[in-house]
Amino acid sequence: MNEIINLLASHQSIRKYKNIPVQEETVKEIITAAQWSSSSSHFQAYTIINVKDPQKRAAIAEIAGGQQWVVDCPLFLVFCADLHRAQKYWKRKDDQIFSNNEMFLIATVDASLAGQQAYIAASSLGLGGVYVGGIRNDLDAMGKLLNLPYLVYPVFGMCLGYPDDNPGQKPRLPLEAIYKIDQYEEAGDDSRIADYDREIAEYYRQRTKGKSQDTWSERCGRLMMEKPRENLGRSIRDKGFNQR
Ligand SMILES: Cc1cc2nc3c(=O)[nH]c(=O)nc-3n(C[C@H](O)[C@H](O)[C@H](O)COP(=O)(O)O)c2cc1C
Repeated sequence: MNEIINLLASHQSIRKYKNIPVQEETVKEIITAAQWSSSSSHFQAYTIINVKDPQKRAAIAEIAGGQQWVVDCPLFLVFCADLHRAQKYWKRKDDQIFSNNEMFLIATVDASLAGQQAYIAASSLGLGGVYVGGIRNDLDAMGKLLNLPYLVYPVFGMCLGYPDDNPGQKPRLPLEAIYKIDQYEEAGDDSRIADYDREIAEYYRQRTKGKSQDTWSERCGRLMMEKPRENLGRSIRDKGFNQR
């Protein structure tokens, strides 16, 4: 494995950070790396907001269900899907073209690719961090807090900082379960998933000192039932996305 693949394969989310600021120069490097992500039709349909204001951080942590690391991390970035800029600067103005599902996907994918490039760049500079999808618990509140215009919505936040924790890597699904040749082939997956369920239950048992022994398949369903985010579709449509 080369250096980059080693870095990627040593990933673990970090939620505790040393009290060391991330220098502005480093932030710029991370954002520059994000900017070099590929982009559908070169729309570059995302905006990254660096949230520095402690009050806003506290409000976002609350929206995310009390995620203290949003307050504590030295650097907190919000990756927004953004079609507002394209619509505003497109000469032949037509509100309709930005409102279909495809454009929503384009912007969401663009924001996600930029996010992952930022994450990898930050990791290469010795930082660690965690995505915060919890900000989608209340997109209306996030929109007000960050002054997001029409056709902009926050896809996820990202806490970054110098790691003060080493929680250990979370086991992944077996490669054969997620990698197929020529077609979607489920043969053999039942036993793979059963093995994985046992492996991850043991991982959670150790990590939580016995409090949780969740399997992967249990968590998939239960977590979504706990936070179905029923309002998300309406909030996104209110911002002009997904009208048709
Ligand atoms: C889009 C996205 C949203 C996430 N949201 C949260 C979150 O709100 N809070 C959190 O603690 N972790 C969040 N995570 C981190 C995942 O829980 C984590 O990546 C996963 O459990 C695998 O663990 P690992 O990253 O340590 O390998 C999120 C990850 C992604 C990709």
